[in-house]
Order: sequence, then C-alpha cells, then structure tokens
Amino acid sequence: MIKELSIQPTCGLHGELSVPGDKSISHRGLILGAISQGTTTLHHFLPAADCLSTLTALQQLGVPIERTGTTVMIRGRGLRGLTQPQQALDMGNAGTATRLLAGLLAGQPFETTLVGDASLSQRPMERVRQPLQAMGAQLQLTGGHLPMLITGRTLHGSCTEMQVASAQVKSALILAALQADRPSTIVEKLPTRDHTERLLRLFGGQIETAADHRTITVHPQPNLIGQSLTIPGDFSSAAFFMTAATIIPNSHVRLTHVGLNSTRTGFLSILQRMGGRVTVDRKLGAGEPVGTLDVRFAQLHPVQVTASEIPAVIDELPLVALLAATADGISTISGAAELRVKETDRIATIVTELQKLGVQITARPDGFVIDGRQSWQQPTEPLASHGDHRIGMTMAISALRVGGPTELVDAEAVNISYPTFFEDLARLNQEV
Ligand code: S3P
Repeated sequence: MIKELSIQPTCGLHGELSVPGDKSISHRGLILGAISQGTTTLHHFLPAADCLSTLTALQQLGVPIERTGTTVMIRGRGLRGLTQPQQALDMGNAGTATRLLAGLLAGQPFETTLVGDASLSQRPMERVRQPLQAMGAQLQLTGGHLPMLITGRTLHGSCTEMQVASAQVKSALILAALQADRPSTIVEKLPTRDHTERLLRLFGGQIETAADHRTITVHPQPNLIGQSLTIPGDFSSAAFFMTAATIIPNSHVRLTHVGLNSTRTGFLSILQRMGGRVTVDRKLGAGEPVGTLDVRFAQLHPVQVTASEIPAVIDELPLVALLAATADGISTISGAAELRVKETDRIATIVTELQKLGVQITARPDGFVIDGRQSWQQPTEPLASHGDHRIGMTMAISALRVGGPTELVDAEAVNISYPTFFEDLARLNQEV
C-alpha cells in the first residue's frame, strides 16, 4: 500500500459493490467461536488489521484457527479451555479487541498482559477496569491505559449501571458475566450495538434484553456450541460510498448484503433526514438484518444531531460532517464527546482536515457546527489520515469532490478496517 496517494476528482461513481464483512461481528465471531465447543466457520470475515489482532491473540491463547481469505475456521476450546499465552498479546490498533478480551480474560485462571500501538496506548481503559473490578476482576493499568495486566479470578455476578454508552464495555461485561457464579444485569446509559447479544443467542447462550432496550440479563456458565455463519457487509464501510454517491453529482451506486442492524444505522436516518436519495431493500437474514442500499446524488439540507442518536452513528460522524459540509445551511452535532477518545480525537482531526478544504466548521467540546453554504477550495497542503482509518477514508471521499488532484498522506491507515478500500473506490469510479 502506498503511503501517500494522489486522488483525482471524479464526475460520478457508478455500479454495484458488496463491501467487506462487518468489523464488530468479525471480532465477536472469533471470540465466541473460541469459547464454544466444536467448530465455528465464519464466512465473509473481515481480514483487516484489527480483526487479525483478535485472531492472533486467540491463537496465542491456545485456540487453533485457520484462515483462507475471508473464511475462518475456529476449533473452539470451550469457556474453560483457553491457555496462558507465552508473551504479551499485541492488540495493535484494536480498541474493540482489547476491551472485549479484557472481559473474557478477567475470568480465566491465568495472567495475561495486553499491549497496543501508540494510539491504542492512549485510549481510556478505566472504563472496563472499574466495572470488571466490581465483579471481582483484577486488572492493572498503566496510568489508566495499556499495558494492562489481567490476573484471572473467580468472577461474581453483579448489577452494573454503565457510565458510558459503549458497546465495547458492555460486551466486556457480558463476556465476564458468562464466567460468573450467578446471573448479572447490565444497564446501558443508551442502547448501543447489540451484536454480542445476538451472536451469543445464536451460539446457545442465555441472555435477555428488556423492553427498554437498555437492561440486559446474562446467565452464566453456558455450553456454547460452534456455528457456521455469514457475516454481513459492514454498514460503516458502506457509509463511505453512501456519502460519496450523495455528494458527487451524477452518482448512483448499489451496495449489496449490507448489515442493517438498527443499532448501527443512525447514519442512514440522518442522511434521509438531510434529503439524501437512498432506497433500502431489506432481506431476512439469520441473526442480523441485511439488505441492499441504492444511493444517488442529492442536494442536502442541514441537520441537528443530539446525544440520544450518537451511539447508532458513532463511527460515521466524520461522514456526517462531510455531508453537512455540502448542505445548504448550518448543521450542529452535539453529545458526541466520545469522538475525542477514538483512534484519534476525531473532533480535532475532522475539523483540521475539513478546514483545509475551506469548509466552515467549528469544534465544540462535544461535537461540531458546520455551515455548508461556503464553496470548497483546492487544499494548499496534503490531506491527512492522522493514522486514523476512518479519517483517512473520509478525506479520500472528500478529495473526489474538489477541483483538482489532491494528496492524501498516511493513506495506509485504511488497512485497519478496510484493506481493499481504494480498489473498491476505483471500481465504482470506472463503471459507467
Ligand atoms: C464497537 C463499539 C464502538 C465503535 C467501535 C466498535 C464495537 O466503540 O466506535 O468502532 O465493536 O463494540 P465504543 O464501545 O467505544 O463506543
């Protein structure tokens, strides 16, 4: 992968694309396969750097896993069959893998150390340590961050009121609760993505979500059974092409087999509210809803996004900023302070990058304000990913809409979640 790319403007994206498998579900499929009895086969697995960090970590925990392209075969070891790794587990850039494995390893009868790259080593881990400790876990952090030393303990069922709306923390608690001595209850601050709950049911676990969509009861010590499953396309990856097709005149793309779990599709509702031209053809999928999205160019109107909507659009907020930068008015995104603790401070990085295009965007502590009425300009310095996959792809999409060729530095950050991003973009750019 080239470190610096020159991106040419386009006069429209066209054609059909099936985006790679969902990152969140790929991580969870590996972990649940590892702690089940028998073989799990994952089809349409996402072979991106983040998911490969989880795969390698599980191999180091004694789980035989074979991968051929996007198909993964896991020989499950059961809930009590993992073994102590020979060395620290390197989680790379993967926040999801780190927090989920913290919950799993907190109840295993051995010690594990988790380490990560420079970005991951700055991300907050107290949010998992504190509620896991209330279950009897022993996690030692380094100033609230990685490296994390986990000393496995017997865990006690508990009732946790979550302090942050985070599916990673919720999933860590669920994985810990599976190993506890009695049932556990988790109360979410706001409902977040529910892939762990859905998959756990599929593997034979007993987990209930109350009618408020926030209260979850986990029954411990299940006998999980290996499954064969096809992972839907990642809605978060599809969102880059939904954005591109919407903001580049003359575009029309179809995205097939995309995961449409409503805890993930806040971006779709926001785009439709802004006047986006999207039609959705929903299919009945096993475990997770999927469907086809048909998206065309549209002139957008401004939007107001507030706290209750944030969890379902958390990873797509840089794209909401990009949409808003083409709308005929002022948009405000608030209640999104979590953006400050992602792979980069995404409020700071998106503001810096969009300002290079002449976009009128102002940072707020918990979001941003964007006036889309100003026309964009050719940037005088290269656009940058800041080492953040989603910022890199967002800026690559924006570069398609400026007047001339635009440089993008550290473009290889896309490997974290979407290694074939530039190939897929080139395909839609050629089809007429
Ligand atoms: C994820 C949860 C979200 C999301 C991340 C993936 C998951 O993070 O931003 O990309 O797979 O559980 P938080 O739990 O920190 O909100």
